[in-house]
Amino acid sequence: MAAKKFGLKCKIFMGAKDIKRQRPNVEAMRKNNAEIVPVTTGSQTLVDAVSECMRYWVSNCDTTHMCVGSTVGPNIFIKICAWSTAQISRELIKQVKEEFGKIPNKLKLINCVGGGSSAAGFWNEFMDTKAEFIGVEAGGPKNSKLHAAPLSNGSKIGILHGAAQYVIQDKEGQIGSTESISAGLDYPGISPLHCFLKDAKRAKYTSASDEQALKAYQLVSKLENISPSLEPSHAFAEAIKLAPKLKSSEVIIVNSCGDSLKDKDIIKDKLGSYIR
Ligand SMILES: Cc1ncc(COP(=O)(O)O)c(C=O)c1O
Repeated sequence: MAAKKFGLKCKIFMGAKDIKRQRPNVEAMRKNNAEIVPVTTGSQTLVDAVSECMRYWVSNCDTTHMCVGSTVGPNIFIKICAWSTAQISRELIKQVKEEFGKIPNKLKLINCVGGGSSAAGFWNEFMDTKAEFIGVEAGGPKNSKLHAAPLSNGSKIGILHGAAQYVIQDKEGQIGSTESISAGLDYPGISPLHCFLKDAKRAKYTSASDEQALKAYQLVSKLENISPSLEPSHAFAEAIKLAPKLKSSEVIIVNSCGDSLKDKDIIKDKLGSYIR
């Protein structure tokens, strides 16, 4: 969208598996004149797309800018992305004050976490408040050992995409495989920004399984006037778990950071139908 606005050519690197499972997004990008470059290396998902994009950029850096859609990669890309997504909390903090007259004493801000851009943006303006931050990673299928949850599964520090971070890896430090129903959370690493928030105990991280996310998607779509994509459905799963234990004076806000339309094929496959 930005390239179109500024009249620039745009290549989008996307894992071949994600091109198949996120078809509506691909169609939308093509309509906006982007060239989609399928990435067929490795697991053919986000991690390989980022690697391939970086390879292209370092080979063409005289004529090319690289933009990363999450808070991953070398320092400056994390800053650009986190500054941009912080617009979410610039607006949210105003809305919270309008709604409650002040920032509630007990406020939980729940966000899904893949690379961590939407969580970083959702929390930014609340950093110096008492608001509790809860990040929800992709726990993967219930009975699988594979997941995409480095922070909540005790992964060690390693290097991925030019930054030290907690990352899913094997004994030799090779990047490990991941699995998640959600293409946007299916990433073995996590922004160093979130590694810092975890180590500083400013944010807590947990995970939701594929099944819990699907259930949350169903419940939220049925009861609320929104239809979250599978990424925020992970965050809703945590909210659904926590809500019954809270007093009515406590407030939870979930960032519904994507629409289910892009996941309609996966939802139809898993639940038999897709109703929006
Ligand atoms: C709708 C949606 N939400 C969340 C994410 C997760 O990204 P991040 O962890 O950077 O917020 C993605 C990633 O593609 C996404 O498409």
